[in-house]
Amino acid sequence: MKSCKISWGITAILAVLVVAMAYLFIIRGSTLEANDGRTAILLSVGERDHVLGEMRGLLEAVQGITEGIIAEDYTSIAEEATAVGMILTRTEDPAMLAKLPIEFKTNGFAAHSAFDELAQNATEFEDADMVLQELSVILSACTSCHAGYRIGLEEN
Ligand code: HEC
Repeated sequence: MKSCKISWGITAILAVLVVAMAYLFIIRGSTLEANDGRTAILLSVGERDHVLGEMRGLLEAVQGITEGIIAEDYTSIAEEATAVGMILTRTEDPAMLAKLPIEFKTNGFAAHSAFDELAQNATEFEDADMVLQELSVILSACTSCHAGYRIGLEEN
């Protein structure tokens, strides 16, 4: 009887640990509150460089898409947008993904997938206003994520 109680006790402790780990690694990620009120995601130098490099790629795509809108060049718009679509998420390092809060991952994935949709609609409808409208929605995803998060360096 006694050992049975101990086993239940151990099971309960393990269950709490699993939930705590899931919270840490899946929901919260590796974060701190930054002094400007945003959430700082703590990454290694290499991971930060990787994320920021990807960000500059996003801005370049936005620039290319606006040029495409002016020139009404839908092939180029689709190429620019596809380059920063979901394809970028397939090669992400799982260890780095675990450091990102779930909301950050969800917003990031939604932005990449919105670029794929923009590419598809640009080719299908060849409608500059539609592309501009979709780009404006994507840009509000950029600005709202920037308002809430920054990147900090983890101590090591
Ligand atoms: C899921 C969150 C998220 C989304 C969505 C997002 N960003 Fe960022 N971006 C960040 C974070 C975090 C930083 C780092 C900011 C800091 O540390 O102050 C950043 C930094 C940047 C930088 C600076 C890069 C550098 O070298 O310093 C650029 C440019 C940028 N983002 C462009 C974009 C554009 C354009 C979009 C939308 C198409 C976008 N981002 C969408 C989170 C996001």
